[in-house]
Amino acid sequence: MRMTRRGFCAGLALLPLARPAVAQTMPLLTAQEAMVQLAPDTYPATPVWSYDGAVPGPVIRAAQGDRLERRLVNDLNVPTSIHWHGIRIDNAMDGVAGLTQDPVPPGHSFDYAFDLPDAGTYWYHAHTNSMEQVARGLSGALIVEETTPPDVDRDEVLMIDDWLIDPDTGRFADGFAAPMTLSHGGRIGNLVGVNGRYDYSLSARQNERLRLRLINSANARIFGLRLEGLRGWAVALDGMPLAEPGPVTDTLVLAPAQRIDLIVDVTAEEGAAAGLLFAAADDTWRALAEITVAGRSATASRDMPAPLPPNPRMEVGSPETARLRDMPLQGGAMRGLERARFRGRVTAWQELVRNGRFWALARQVGLGETPFATLSRGETARIRMTNDTIFPHAMHLHGMHFRTRNEDGALGPLRDTVLVMPNETTEIAFVAHNPGKWLLHCHMLGHAASGMTNWIMVS
Ligand code: C2O
Ligand code: CU
Repeated sequence: MRMTRRGFCAGLALLPLARPAVAQTMPLLTAQEAMVQLAPDTYPATPVWSYDGAVPGPVIRAAQGDRLERRLVNDLNVPTSIHWHGIRIDNAMDGVAGLTQDPVPPGHSFDYAFDLPDAGTYWYHAHTNSMEQVARGLSGALIVEETTPPDVDRDEVLMIDDWLIDPDTGRFADGFAAPMTLSHGGRIGNLVGVNGRYDYSLSARQNERLRLRLINSANARIFGLRLEGLRGWAVALDGMPLAEPGPVTDTLVLAPAQRIDLIVDVTAEEGAAAGLLFAAADDTWRALAEITVAGRSATASRDMPAPLPPNPRMEVGSPETARLRDMPLQGGAMRGLERARFRGRVTAWQELVRNGRFWALARQVGLGETPFATLSRGETARIRMTNDTIFPHAMHLHGMHFRTRNEDGALGPLRDTVLVMPNETTEIAFVAHNPGKWLLHCHMLGHAASGMTNWIMVS
């Protein structure tokens, strides 16, 4: 006899000390279409793909050590999935369609549940056809708070993005997969903004101390940033605390997917200009986020901030003796690929181009059946990326942070995304502590889609 739900509950009720069978409800994150006013009011609103109807999606805040649970409900009419960028995550939750999960079909859902071992500034975004889905709005901030937060008056997330919008219709310009875009610098927007606003501003008082969590969620734009009317220190990169806060004296470079946490003191007088500037294409500095200074905070200006507490288990042990693997970054306009491995065989460039593929990582175009490297758990890995193209690339490793390693062997800060400039060689070193299949790809999303994607296996 099949036990009915009612019978089951009634049965439970007879058991002494039985806990009530409460249905566990998971908070939802719904991928859905929406209309958002991205451009100034005199332009039409933009139809977007959003999480919960907003661009960017809701800021998710959790405490270090928490377990994060979200049910992705797909109300779009295309399949999708979510990647939790920078989290040292359980591989099955990494959200990479075609590698760690099947894409979630329209009308279906997927439960993401994972631990948050590290505090810091992270983000989440679509990882199914991401070059189109992220450009249409599918991204949001994921903030993991320290047990003891730094001494600041406010904590602000600044999600920096650009959008390519047709000013007549307000719609995103088509051509997400235009060969010209894919083979060059990628999709660069004609409107730049913060937290979904082209005119983002916040108000502060003089001498107030703010933590600014900058996230570059653009498809391809590398932001050059400067502070105005603020005195600041960088305290974390890609979520991971710096050993010592670094005073901001010069231009900050924020490549796609990178984050930087700043602690800034408002030095500007009431009414004077303050905020964040970005380098526009015409070499002028323009306001990206304005800070309106009104009044003076009771506290006088403070000393240099203390470093953030380090995250656990981040040592990179003895890279000197680790095997070095070479990963040339290849292809693109003006440096076309001769041939590379594509769908299981060595393929000539003419055929690659016919398939909309322009780039390769270590002579491999897109995901191959065999990984770029198979690492045993706990092994220290070294990968030397040489940029043989004429474009910069923001190289991102899933699942683990790495350190850059200089020629003299000195290790740089922990990162999950590193910008490799043309003709530059960047070596990364990390301990492969997280088992699973992990992508290593360019975060210029058009590059990733047209070949600059590979993977490593940790077992
Ligand atoms: Cu944010 Cu595979 O990336
Ligand atoms: Cu690239």
